[in-house]
Amino acid sequence: MNRADLAVLNCSQLLTCHGPIPKKKSALQDVGLLENGCIASFEGKIVFIGDEKTFHRDVQMTDDGVRIDGRGLTCLPGFVDPHTHLPFAGSREDEFSLRIKGYTYQQLARQGLGIQTTVNATRQASDEELLSLCLSRLDSMLVHGTTTAEAKSGYGLNKKDELKQLRVLKKANTAHPVDIVSTFMGAHEVPKEYKKRKAEYIDLLTKEILPEVRQRQLAEFFDVFCEEGVYSVEETRTLLREAKKAGFKVKIHADEFVSLGGAQLAVEEGAISAEHLIAITDEGVEKMAQSPTAAILLPGVSFFLMQQKKAPARKMIDQGVIVAVATDFNPGSSMTESMLFILQLAVFTLKMGIEEAINAATANASYALDRQEQVGSLEIGKGMDLVLWDVPSYPYLVYHLGINPVKHVIKNGRIVVENGIICQAPVEFP
Ligand code: NIG
Ligand code: FE
Repeated sequence: MNRADLAVLNCSQLLTCHGPIPKKKSALQDVGLLENGCIASFEGKIVFIGDEKTFHRDVQMTDDGVRIDGRGLTCLPGFVDPHTHLPFAGSREDEFSLRIKGYTYQQLARQGLGIQTTVNATRQASDEELLSLCLSRLDSMLVHGTTTAEAKSGYGLNKKDELKQLRVLKKANTAHPVDIVSTFMGAHEVPKEYKKRKAEYIDLLTKEILPEVRQRQLAEFFDVFCEEGVYSVEETRTLLREAKKAGFKVKIHADEFVSLGGAQLAVEEGAISAEHLIAITDEGVEKMAQSPTAAILLPGVSFFLMQQKKAPARKMIDQGVIVAVATDFNPGSSMTESMLFILQLAVFTLKMGIEEAINAATANASYALDRQEQVGSLEIGKGMDLVLWDVPSYPYLVYHLGINPVKHVIKNGRIVVENGIICQAPVEFP
C-alpha cells in the first residue's frame, strides 16, 4: 500500500512522457498514453500511476488527502521551458513596429536598438522592480502550463547589473512555484562601452564576473551568443573553457542567423545544449546526432522575426539529434511565455509531430537543463508537476488554437492553479 496526499483520478488521457530520457528518433513518438489514468503523490513525489482499480487496491489516501476529478481532462507533465531571457525591464514594441515595416532584427541592432535598448532599461531597474516583473511573468508561465523554466541574465552586461539579474532570479525562485534554473549570460552581447575592446570585456567576464557568480552560487549554466558581429567561434570557445574551469555547465546560442559552426563547437566543448540553430549546417546536424548535446529549437523566433528560414527539425529528429523546444521568451525576438504556443508552432512551422513536440517540451526539455531525474515526465519518484488541460484528448492542444485550456496546475504535489486561476498560496516555497 502506498500512502498519498494528492490524487488525480480518471483523466480522459494521461501522458507520462516516460523515459528513457533523452528521447530520440521514433522514441519521440511515444508519449506514454494511459486512457482513464490515475496518478497520486505523497509529499510532492509521484507514488502511483495506473488505472482506477489498481489505485483503489494500492493507494491509501491520508486523512486530509486531496482527490481531483480528472474526468474530461487531459493530464501532461508540467512544461519545462529550457530557454528564456526572463529578467529584463522595458519592452520593444516600437522596434517591433519598425520590423513590421520591413527593417530586419540585425539592421535595427546595428542602429543601437535591439538588445542594447533592453540593456539600458534593465540597468536602470531596481532589484524590486525587476523582481516584480519576473514574478508577474512567472505567473503568466504558470497559468499557461510551465512548471520549470530556465532564465538567463545578459541584459546587464556589467558586473553590477549581471549580478542584479541573477540575484533577482534567486529571489524569484524562492518566492514563486515555478522552479527557475539560472544561466549566467554576460556574453549575450558586447556592451557598447566595450565595442572596440571586446578582448577586455572577455577578460572582465572571465576574470571578475564569472568567479563571483560562481562563488555566490548564482547560476548553474553559462551561455554565449556565438554569432557574426557578437562572439566568434574562437572567442566562444575561450569563454566556455573558462566557464567550465570555474565549474559551470555550458550552453551556446548557436547558428541563429549565420552558420558559424556553433553546433559543432557545442559538441566539441561538451555543451549540454546548442540553442536556436536556424542556420545549422548538415555537418552540424550530423555532429549533433552523434552526441549527447541537445538541440533547443525556438520556433517562436522565426515566427516573431517573420523569417522563412527555420531550424531543420525534421532532419534533426530523423538523424537522431536530441530535440527540445523552448519559448526564448525575450522582448526582441520572441515575446511569449506560452509553451503551448511554441508547441503549436513546432507542429505548424517545424513539421514536428504532436507527440514529438510534447516530448520536446517536457522530457527532452528537462534533459536540456539536467533535470531529467526530477521533472519532465510523470514517473514514480519524480516530482508531482503536472497540468490538467480542459481538452478531451491531447491532439486538441495543437488543434484548437488561440485559447488557453489550462484547468489546474500542480507543482511539487501542491495545487497552484485552480480553474485557470493562480492560488494565492499562503505558503513559502522552499
Ligand atoms: O535569443 N539571440 C540573442 N538573444 C535573444 C534576443 C534578445 C533580444 O533581442 O533582446 C534571442 O533571440
Ligand atoms: Fe535566447
